[in-house]
Amino acid sequence: MNESVTSTRYTGLIKNYLNRLPIDPNGKIISLGEGHTPLIQCNNINIVQEKNIKLYVKFEGLNPTGSFKDRGMTVAVTKAVQEGSKAIICASTGNTSASAAAYASRAGIAAFVLIPDGKIAMGKLAQAMIHGAVVIQIRGNFDDGMRLVKEVAQHAPVDIVNSINPYRLQGQKTASFEIVDELGHAPDFHCLPVGNAGNITAHWIGYTEYASENGALQTQACNLCAGNCNFNHVAKSSSRPKMLGYQAAGSAPFLRGAMVDNPETVATAIRIGHPQSWDNAWCVSKESGGWFDECTDEEILAAQRLLANEEGVFCEPASATSVAGALRDVENGKIPAGSSVVCTLTGHGLKDPDTAIKQATSKMITIDANLDDVKNAILSNMP
Ligand code: F0G
Repeated sequence: MNESVTSTRYTGLIKNYLNRLPIDPNGKIISLGEGHTPLIQCNNINIVQEKNIKLYVKFEGLNPTGSFKDRGMTVAVTKAVQEGSKAIICASTGNTSASAAAYASRAGIAAFVLIPDGKIAMGKLAQAMIHGAVVIQIRGNFDDGMRLVKEVAQHAPVDIVNSINPYRLQGQKTASFEIVDELGHAPDFHCLPVGNAGNITAHWIGYTEYASENGALQTQACNLCAGNCNFNHVAKSSSRPKMLGYQAAGSAPFLRGAMVDNPETVATAIRIGHPQSWDNAWCVSKESGGWFDECTDEEILAAQRLLANEEGVFCEPASATSVAGALRDVENGKIPAGSSVVCTLTGHGLKDPDTAIKQATSKMITIDANLDDVKNAILSNMP
C-alpha cells in the first residue's frame, strides 16, 4: 500500500497544525509523530466525584520520548535544520536532553546536553546516551547549566533548544489546541507543574490564539508587567481557562516571589530556582485570573501513587505536582464544585523507576517455584 492510500495517518503536530506554526512546509520536517496525546477523564478519585468535578489528565508522557518536550523539540529542531544548523545544545533536568538527543539523531545533527551531576532520573540519562548526545555533567544545578549554555552559544556554532528558544513554545502551544479541539471548549482550570515556566507560557499562547480567532478577545497593551513578556495581551474572556501553576515546595520561586538559589525536590524535573520565563508566567497567572501554589514532596508522591493506583496512569513525580495541587484546591473550594479541570501530566513514570519502586505500596512476594506456593500467594492476597 502506498503513502497516498494511508495519508490520513497521524504524522506529528507540525503537519497537523501547519497553518499555526512558523515552519516552511516545503523544507525538511523532523518529526517522531509527537502530539495527539490522550485526554483521560479521572473517574475513580473520591473528592472529584463528591464535588462533581470533570477532571481530565492530558498524558504527555505518551509522546515519543516520554514527555511534553517533544512538542517543542519537533518545531525547534525542524527550524534549526531548515536554517542550516549542525548542532543543538541545552541545559536540562533530563527530559529536554532526552528529547533533544532523539530529534538530533533523527535530523542527523549533533546534540550537546548539560545536566546536573547525579540529579537526573536514570531513564532520561539512558535516553540521552543511547541517542548519541554528548552528555556533559556539570557540578552544579540546572540553573548553572542554563547560564553556561547561554554563554557558550555566543562562542560556538550551536542552537539553544531550551524553552528560551521561541520555537519550543510554538510547538508546545499545540497541547492547548488539542484540548479545545477535543472538549469543544477550554476547561475552567488548567493545572501545570512549573519549573522553567516555559510550558505554562506556551499553553497560554495556545489558548489565547484559539480564543482570539473566535472573536472573543481584543488585543490591548500590557499593564501587567514592565513589558518584558511576549504576549499579545487581550481583554478578559471566558473562553480561556484560569491557569494554575504548581511548584515543588523546595523549588518554588513563584511562591517566594524571588529566585531560589539551592532548589531541592524529589521531583528532579522541576528542581529549578531561576525560571527563564519568569515575566511570562506572572503575566499568564494574572491575566488568566489563576494562581501559583506549592506542594511538598510527600504530596507530590502521594498524587503519583493515587493516579497509578486509582486511574492506571503512571506519570513521573514532577507531573503529579499538577494533580496534587488541583486536588488540594478542589478540596478547599478554590476550584469550585462542578468545574472542568485539565491537569497536564508532563512525563512518563518510566523515566524515574527508582523513585517509583522506593515508594510503591505493592508487596513483592518471593516463593519457591511450585503450584502450592503460587496458590497460597494468590489466596492470601485476594481482596
Ligand atoms: N514536568 C516535567 C516532567 C519536566 O521535565 C519539566 C521541565 C517540567 C514539568 C516543567 O516545565 O520548565 O516548562 O515549567 N523540564 C526541563 C528539562 C527543565 O530540562 O527537562 P517548564
